[in-house]
Amino acid sequence: MITKIIGTGSCAGSRRVTNQELEQLVETSDEWIHSRTGISTRYLAQEEGSCAMAAEAAKKACAQAGVSPKELDLILLATSTPENCFPSEACQVQGRIGADHAVAFDISAACSGFIFALHTVHSFLVSGTYRTALVIGVDELSKAVDWSDRRTCVLFGDGAGACVVRAEKEGRFCSTIGSDGSRGDILTCQARSGGNFLTGKRPELGFIAMDGQEVFKFAVKKVPACIEEMLEKEGEKKENIRFYLLHQANERIIETVAKRLGEPVEKFPMNIGQYGNTSAASIPILFDELNQEGKLKRGDKLVLAGFGAGLTWGSILLEW
Ligand code: UT7
Repeated sequence: MITKIIGTGSCAGSRRVTNQELEQLVETSDEWIHSRTGISTRYLAQEEGSCAMAAEAAKKACAQAGVSPKELDLILLATSTPENCFPSEACQVQGRIGADHAVAFDISAACSGFIFALHTVHSFLVSGTYRTALVIGVDELSKAVDWSDRRTCVLFGDGAGACVVRAEKEGRFCSTIGSDGSRGDILTCQARSGGNFLTGKRPELGFIAMDGQEVFKFAVKKVPACIEEMLEKEGEKKENIRFYLLHQANERIIETVAKRLGEPVEKFPMNIGQYGNTSAASIPILFDELNQEGKLKRGDKLVLAGFGAGLTWGSILLEW
């Protein structure tokens, strides 16, 4: 069996925030943010939170696929910013959309989360364990950002993207994922830190801390290498790829990856200018936009690729 995406949906935070607004918050400028990253605006969640965004994206994906949530066997949700330690965000989405027959759980791989989730779901579908699944990438990094740190606060936005996938007889799907825990310290966000009655410390939450240049170097080296390796293994030529849907972290990273692959940048759609970096949501939001705009034709070969904290990375080749 082969994993086929049969519907997509997305939802961004409810409040659009411009670079000019951030100029009032920290010492930065629209010119700096736009020229270094490509970002002009981002959407931040307010009262709605990540569960509501994920549930909205999920409902839209099910509607587009023509699948009732009751038909779902599995919900796999990728996030680094769940609303609760437990219940999982996936279980909360399950409750909100009434997917009574599904099993639901979360997966954590930062900005590579959606790729890791789709890769994992594929294993369940090819083994025949499940037939229809919902894969969600959602993050609300605005609650993990230090809003006085200009090096990070200008980069991120909140949102969710979802795909309904089904085990089909025909199609194309292959994927590869990787991680390197020894380099994890270049991009971190501490969760509840140590504290119990023995230490006498109160658990605290940390903020995102990043060595931007190291992450940049890692991304422009690892992403093209990972894609090249996957395509070579699959015997697929780059000229047959219709679009490369890359994690939207920085326009300059995407342009460099295109150059290193020797592919025209027009094959790399981008929406970072509007959304900022939405972490695990960036690839499925982009996917949904292309789908809604009618830019995807059945049979198109697409490459998805992500990278992020962990360090983690991965790529997928699929036929739409
Ligand atoms: O999802 C995966 C996670 N993240 C990424 O993929 C991020 C990867 N890295 C990047 O995108 C880039 O490294 C950044 C956009 C984060 C930074 O761009 P850069 O060209 O690497 O800038 P830099 O860190 O070298 O900083 C250059 C200067 C510094 O000033 P000095 O030391 O040269 O005087 C910074 O303090 O820019 C300063 N700076 C800012 N200035 C205005 C840093 N942030 C800002 C800001 N506004 N927001």
